[in-house]
Amino acid sequence: MAHDHAHHHDLPTRFYLFGGKGGVGKTTLAAANALRLAAAGERTLLVSTDPAHSVSDLLEARLGAEPTAAGENLWAMEIDPQADAQAYVEGIREDAQAAVSKAVLPALDRHLKLAVQAPGTAESALFDRFTRIMEWCPQRFDRIVFDTAPSGHTLRLLTLPSMLGAWVEGLQAQRAKVNKLQGMWRSMAGVREPEREDRVLTRLRQRAERFAQARHRLHDESVFHPVLQAERLPIEETARVIEQLRDTHIPVGALYVNRLWPADESSAFVTERVAQQNEYLAEIRERFARHELIEVAQSARDIVGRAQLDALAARLSAPSAG
Ligand SMILES: Nc1ncnc2c1ncn2[C@@H]1O[C@H](COP(=O)(O)OP(=O)(O)OP(=O)(O)O)[C@@H](O)[C@H]1O
Ligand SMILES: [Mg+2]
Repeated sequence: MAHDHAHHHDLPTRFYLFGGKGGVGKTTLAAANALRLAAAGERTLLVSTDPAHSVSDLLEARLGAEPTAAGENLWAMEIDPQADAQAYVEGIREDAQAAVSKAVLPALDRHLKLAVQAPGTAESALFDRFTRIMEWCPQRFDRIVFDTAPSGHTLRLLTLPSMLGAWVEGLQAQRAKVNKLQGMWRSMAGVREPEREDRVLTRLRQRAERFAQARHRLHDESVFHPVLQAERLPIEETARVIEQLRDTHIPVGALYVNRLWPADESSAFVTERVAQQNEYLAEIRERFARHELIEVAQSARDIVGRAQLDALAARLSAPSAG
């Protein structure tokens, strides 16, 4: 695997993130790379959020929300972001129930019902899930490949740890203050209660620690591979993604330029198509000169099933990938 990025510490790359516009080939390339890592003897987990169950189809395995064996050294799981968001909000409700008075519970419930649908909730839930999955490494798995959602969402997800970290710390300070006040009132009223750690506070603290850990690991042990096609919109999207990733301190690895048409002199259409593609390729080489490019040829057919995925993975590891 390419290492054209400099990590701040000499930790191995453990987390691989694939991002890019819809349909550029994120799932396909994430799965092919997971196969390569597994073939190299690394215990590899492929995590997909693809709602179309395309990873199940690619690996020809029945996958679920927990890691399922999908070959030698290979495990995979498919997360349902909607179900996750539901469970996430339910967890928040349980915490909140313990913390607020009964009178405000109906209002809280109404609020949380809306929160499940709110934009941002699914991302928060997903990031929460990602941070838990990251903790499985390196004990359970050597490498984890994330087939992420399209880049807009992914990016918000990736910038979340720092925001949420600050938010949780603020909340923590606030609750500590409230608890201290309550303690003072109790002792003034002569109520003697053993000091017991507030459940909400404990959970917030654990979450903040987990997020901080994930933030460090995204910085030190991760690589983000943009996937694009030699076309106008994916190029602009990739430029945006790389710009935003700079702020999140997640190293950018090789760019996968996918679905490159092979030349065919006998067809005027294909010749024209390839000429335009070469113009875009030249632009990609110039604009992303600091990054390694991995060119991937367009196959005549969609890549479905294990045999075709294996063939693609082999193509990627060949010296002249493409
Ligand atoms: N190099 C290739 N040659 C031929 N077909 C390809 C190639 N790469 C991807 N495809 C096909 O293109 C389609 C989209 O690929 P894929 O599902 O990997 O994209 P994606 O970026 O994950 O999409 P989404 O944003 O919807 O999750 C699939 O049918 C896949 O088989
Ligand atoms: Mg996909």
